[in-house]
Amino acid sequence: MLFDNHNRPLTYLRLAVTDRCNLRCSYCMPEHGLNWLSRSDLLTYEEMLRLCRILAALGIEKVRITGGEPLVRRDMMHFLDKLVGISGIKEVGLTTNGVATAQFVPQLKSLGIRSVNLSLDTLDRERFFQITRRDELPAVMETLHMLLDNDFRVRINAVVMDGVNDSDIIPLAEMAEIYPLDMRFIEEMPFNGGDHGTGIPAWNHVRILDTLRERWPALTRCTDAPESTSANYQAPGMQGRLGVIAAWTRSFCGTCNRIRVTPQGMLKTCLYDGGVLSIRDLMRAGADDAGLTEQLLQAFRQRPRDGWEAEKNAAEHGASMATIGG
Ligand code: GTP
Ligand code: 5AD
Ligand code: SF4
Repeated sequence: MLFDNHNRPLTYLRLAVTDRCNLRCSYCMPEHGLNWLSRSDLLTYEEMLRLCRILAALGIEKVRITGGEPLVRRDMMHFLDKLVGISGIKEVGLTTNGVATAQFVPQLKSLGIRSVNLSLDTLDRERFFQITRRDELPAVMETLHMLLDNDFRVRINAVVMDGVNDSDIIPLAEMAEIYPLDMRFIEEMPFNGGDHGTGIPAWNHVRILDTLRERWPALTRCTDAPESTSANYQAPGMQGRLGVIAAWTRSFCGTCNRIRVTPQGMLKTCLYDGGVLSIRDLMRAGADDAGLTEQLLQAFRQRPRDGWEAEKNAAEHGASMATIGG
């Protein structure tokens, strides 16, 4: 097993495969988008697979594919087919905005991918447009129903923004009453591409939970895996669960089992750090597997204790979530 310098097991890679996206969510990027990375800046599929083989040999067991929107990268299914075959990788998950996902559901299922996390911040079409700057709510809902019909483990992510979608908390949460899904509410983090400021979020985990408890006074805490980012709850008769992710408060760093690789092949040992090792540059300079392994292990031995320490040491702030992968 792989441990970091704070004795936390590292078992989980979040691999962001592109910075591009077919939405323009205001909490993630400016309306005009980003200066997209060029193709040669991105890790190739071969480079990603090589990296995953190395990491699996070190003890990484779970890979979650993120972006940007991962499904806008061409030949994604081909890549996933290879990824699920890597020895040691026990679970592959996908985080998607659901816009172009429905068509891939049968293939995802046949690849054995069972866990899909879906971004959805409102059930109101106009508000969806306001938040994402695209009129794609019907497509996302189609994806959601296809996933449920095909027995995927579905987790919905909603970023709670004051005066924008706070009135959607209860309508979204009511989906967990009737469907077997986890509806999770996330504190907004300062990763919107520098478009607008984000300080202490007006909706922190306590306020979100209070709002849920007002509607469901008998909400009880579920037993979560120690490394879970969400604190999950259930009320009697509920099919699914409600979750709160203290992403800004960073209350779960003590059990963090995650490393990240950005679309341009930068290793991040914390979501809040600025990137600690260019895997792409090492690979393209001809590093062999042993050399890469040594550099990776060195980075894992220097992980910040928590997201606060990482943020303090980061040179750059205000990046877009699309270049991090969430
Ligand atoms: P799974 O357990 O694989 O489902 O992971 P997850 O639920 O954490 O992943 P998802 O991609 O759905 O992310 C949900 C939210 O949690 C996003 O806002 C992420 O940015 C946030 N998140 C995920 N990992 C971390 C983390 O290590 N630190 C912080 N602060 N937020 C995280
Ligand atoms: N703050 C919190 N969560 C965010 N996400 C994207 N940007 C932010 C942000 N600024 C979430 C989306 C997506 C997940 C990977 O990250 O809800 O589902
Ligand atoms: Fe891990 Fe950093 Fe997230 Fe904390 S903030 S849980 S250390 S990635």
